[in-house]
Amino acid sequence: MPEPLRELSTRAGRVRVFESALAASSAAADRLVEVIRKSVASRGRAVIGLATGGSPINVYRRLVELHVQGELRWDDVISYNLDEYYPVAPGDPHSYRAYMQKHLFDAVKPAANRAHLFDGTVPESFANEQAAGFDRWIAADGGLDLQLLGIGRNGHIGFNEPDDAPLAEALARPSRLERLHPITLEDAARDFGGDESRVPRRALTIGTATILAARSVIVLAFGAQKSEALARAHGGAMTSATPASLLQSIADRVTWYLDPAAASGLAD
Ligand code: GLP
Repeated sequence: MPEPLRELSTRAGRVRVFESALAASSAAADRLVEVIRKSVASRGRAVIGLATGGSPINVYRRLVELHVQGELRWDDVISYNLDEYYPVAPGDPHSYRAYMQKHLFDAVKPAANRAHLFDGTVPESFANEQAAGFDRWIAADGGLDLQLLGIGRNGHIGFNEPDDAPLAEALARPSRLERLHPITLEDAARDFGGDESRVPRRALTIGTATILAARSVIVLAFGAQKSEALARAHGGAMTSATPASLLQSIADRVTWYLDPAAASGLAD
């Protein structure tokens, strides 16, 4: 098991800094497996919130490896994906659904009714209703045992984008259709052949209320381009302007897995 180079506690949680993104991903995968095992043992299932983007790819690679080696059973895992572009067709290779198939589901083969992703094809007038359904389903499943997160350069989590809402509102956001922030659109262009004009302007996202109700949260962030957002999330005030700072409200349940470049702005 990879050991961290540095560990610290901030107002946003426990931070573990590893020598590389790969080492951090491997440690995060081990933690995820531990939560799955414990949850299945104690309540017969594990309810896990999954993320997409570049950051979790090596976590999924490791989970697939463990599954192939017979060390990770996926049979009792119920998963909910954090977000999805809207609108997007189910077979669109740019969709998060396609990403999940490729990086995890083709290998672990979840049962048909156990891996939930937003459907980017629903009529616009029902998009928020679909999202609200996810909040109800997750609650009915007994809440999330673990939520896996990345962080945007603008400090977003899922597609909960920065804004100037009052704090109480920012902490209690339901799952919904959200308009994407300019920095998010810029970063998402790489999923669309580098062409920002092809990025959908909106996305469905699990809201902060459900994320913050998770019994544990893992945040992955790698590379210098994340260091400013991390410094704000850990050292700044809790504010809707940096959605990741809202994790300060549940700091005792949050562990951050970082590489040295991402952690470079965090004070001991
Ligand atoms: C994306 C996703 C997030 C993700 C974040 C970081 O736009 N909506 O769920 O965690 O931005 O992405 P990456 O890991 O590629 O840096």
